[in-house]
Amino acid sequence: MPLRVLGIETSCDETAASVVEGGREILSNVVASQVEIHAEYGGVFPELASRAHVEAIVPIVKRALQQAHVTWRDLDALAVTYGPGLPGSLLVGLNFAKGVAWGSGLPLVPVNHLEGHIYAHWLRTDAEGAAPGEPPFPALVLIVSGGHTQLVLVRDHGAYEVLGTTLDDAAGEAFDKVARMLDLSYPGGPAIESVARQGNPRAFDLPRAWLPGTYDFSFSGLKTAVLRALKPYGDQRSPRLVADMAASFQASVAEVLAEKTAVAAKEYDVRAVLLSGGVSANTALRRAVRARLTRPVYTAPLSLCTDNGAMIAAAGTQRYRAGLRAAWDLDIEPGLQLT
Ligand code: KG4
Ligand code: ZN
Repeated sequence: MPLRVLGIETSCDETAASVVEGGREILSNVVASQVEIHAEYGGVFPELASRAHVEAIVPIVKRALQQAHVTWRDLDALAVTYGPGLPGSLLVGLNFAKGVAWGSGLPLVPVNHLEGHIYAHWLRTDAEGAAPGEPPFPALVLIVSGGHTQLVLVRDHGAYEVLGTTLDDAAGEAFDKVARMLDLSYPGGPAIESVARQGNPRAFDLPRAWLPGTYDFSFSGLKTAVLRALKPYGDQRSPRLVADMAASFQASVAEVLAEKTAVAAKEYDVRAVLLSGGVSANTALRRAVRARLTRPVYTAPLSLCTDNGAMIAAAGTQRYRAGLRAAWDLDIEPGLQLT
């Protein structure tokens, strides 16, 4: 029988649970999003996030087991995110998982949330355009989400080298903040992508933060440039202006992310490039990456780009196979890195 692992994810604003078989087959994938709770703040409000996790965790895990048609006895292990993320949110998932592990006798596997985003590409989907089979090593992963922007070289299972990271905002954070400047809805990424379809990406000459000689990123200068370019218009912003600005901003982000990814892919001669995290759902980014690369580019369906339990179960399965088990005194690590 292939391993059956329940993945639990509560690092930010999604309460998620999923049962995955053999590290690849999704038997269930249940997510309770808190978008409506945080929308009025234009970003995640940590205290409200942890409370919403407390309310949702039991029903979400129950549903994940029901939809997979399994009980605790049919599982081989539990995998849970212990970092990085919001402390209060991480505590809910980790303590819940410890309680279940204690009561059921199932082994508990600690999972790094970033590793989860990488292993989303090991999950089997029928998504159009998704490259078939498991990604080959070495692979280069661009993780772009609301909390992270990293270029990671993956030499083998569990062998990571972080090539670059953001010096200020995460890519998704930049999308969310610029969306707010344009009075667009939260989360900002999908809102910007949607209005940008009607816009001209060359309408505004926005900066590109190349940071030459590094694989690091920076989005704060771009954000300031958007603010400055909008100023002369005051409240007189036509839909055309908003669309042009959204398209110009998106083009700047996509170009820098794609170019750096392509340069790193060549330097390290990787066999595949994987795009992970919420921002990797962005069509302009995907197109910009594909235009620069001849090697296989793996993208995931939206439900696996954003935070979910299946990616935690997939990463947990690899870690379980490698013998990793949590000790009972395992604590959350809000600033956990990939090593
Ligand atoms: O991976 P994710 O769900 O959560 C974190 O781990 O942070 O990413 C959420 C982020 C948000 O900032 C959201 O605006 C962004 O992903 N996002 C997008 C798109 N869809 C979601 N950004 C650009 N284009 C999109 N289509
Ligand atoms: Zn994430």
